[in-house]
Amino acid sequence: MNKGLEDIVVAQTKLSRVDGDNGTLIFCGYDIRELARFATFEDAAYLLWHNELPTRAQLTALKQQLADARGLPDVVLRVLRDLPRDTAPMDALRTGVSALGAGSQLARPNLAQAIALTAQVPLIVAAFDRMRRGREPLAPRADLDHAANYLYLLSGTAPTSTQNRALNTYLVLLADHGLNASTFAARVVASTLSDLHSSIVAAIGALKGPLHGGAPSRVLDMLDAIGAPANAETWIRAALARKERLMGFGHRMYKTADPRAEILRELACATCAPEFFARAQMVEETGLRILRAQKPGERLYTNVEFYSAAVLNAVGLPRDLFTATFAVSRMAGWTAHVLEQVADNRIIRPDAEYVGRAPSSVISLDNQ
Ligand code: COA
Repeated sequence: MNKGLEDIVVAQTKLSRVDGDNGTLIFCGYDIRELARFATFEDAAYLLWHNELPTRAQLTALKQQLADARGLPDVVLRVLRDLPRDTAPMDALRTGVSALGAGSQLARPNLAQAIALTAQVPLIVAAFDRMRRGREPLAPRADLDHAANYLYLLSGTAPTSTQNRALNTYLVLLADHGLNASTFAARVVASTLSDLHSSIVAAIGALKGPLHGGAPSRVLDMLDAIGAPANAETWIRAALARKERLMGFGHRMYKTADPRAEILRELACATCAPEFFARAQMVEETGLRILRAQKPGERLYTNVEFYSAAVLNAVGLPRDLFTATFAVSRMAGWTAHVLEQVADNRIIRPDAEYVGRAPSSVISLDNQ
């Protein structure tokens, strides 16, 4: 029995390769460090959907397709408006995607649907965010790219080029990551020949958990609770003594530094207030020192969520939208995996070892 399916290979993919021993991540043959430097979210999405980087004309066409798909049916807006204002954004996103999928009638997932849904997910997040604040959703702007339009829809102001670049880098870095829990969930649903929206709803549900995508807002909560860097040691020792997990530390795959975390650390250094970055660094160093002393066999590092929190905070996103913003990025990977699954499908159906009670006879209630 292999609890948590660690090291079990259940699919072949051309989309991404996580090498946790050497700290590398590749999307369709390209190193994530290079993609983070040169690619926009649209480049990365095109790469994952087509297995090659776009030409200039192909990129222009994709941007147009994404811009054309920026719209939400009234029924989705009505459903979002009716949600209680204190609904968690990931629950609103899951509900919005589900409402969008009403009527999809088991259509075989295709690229046009993947592009449309990727364009619509930021609209759902932003519409819900504005409505819960008593404001009306804004009309999307076709002149802005995916990242800038998302920030505009949330705030009503087009982002600065620094904010846009930072969010683009984040969206590229998080766009895919092998067979993580949410991607696996999407592929399991797709493997039953269900529809794209159902697969994405499952993925959103999996991403929401704190052991997967729900960690970054908790990283900020931790940094706030620690306050001054001098408090880090005491706070972390007390949290670990209570058997709590340190958010933003540890990873199933990476047994060395996660390349995405390193890029995000540099980005955080360039975009965050110096005091905030110094505090984050102190917490990182202290947390790693203590964890490595307490778990010498574990090879623990900070993960992608640790500095994601700092970067998303710096571009002005409210912390309870961090996981939904992760979903905005991962839409490219999730949809690409669904298309890959259905192109060469076999239903995913693992087995379980039965450890329940031994066979016995049913005694009818009448005979008791
Ligand atoms: N804080 C404290 N201890 C941690 C830890 C953390 N963040 N991450 C791992 N460990 C410890 C565990 O306690 C465990 O030790 P034990 O066997 O003595 O209890 C050991 O390291 C291995 O952890 P395990 O939970 O088996 O690893 P995993 O591969 O199943 O889980 C994570 C990976 C990401 C779920 C885990 O590291 C975690 O919970 N991290 C915090 C949440 C987080 O940052 N999530 C975002 C992920 S990108």
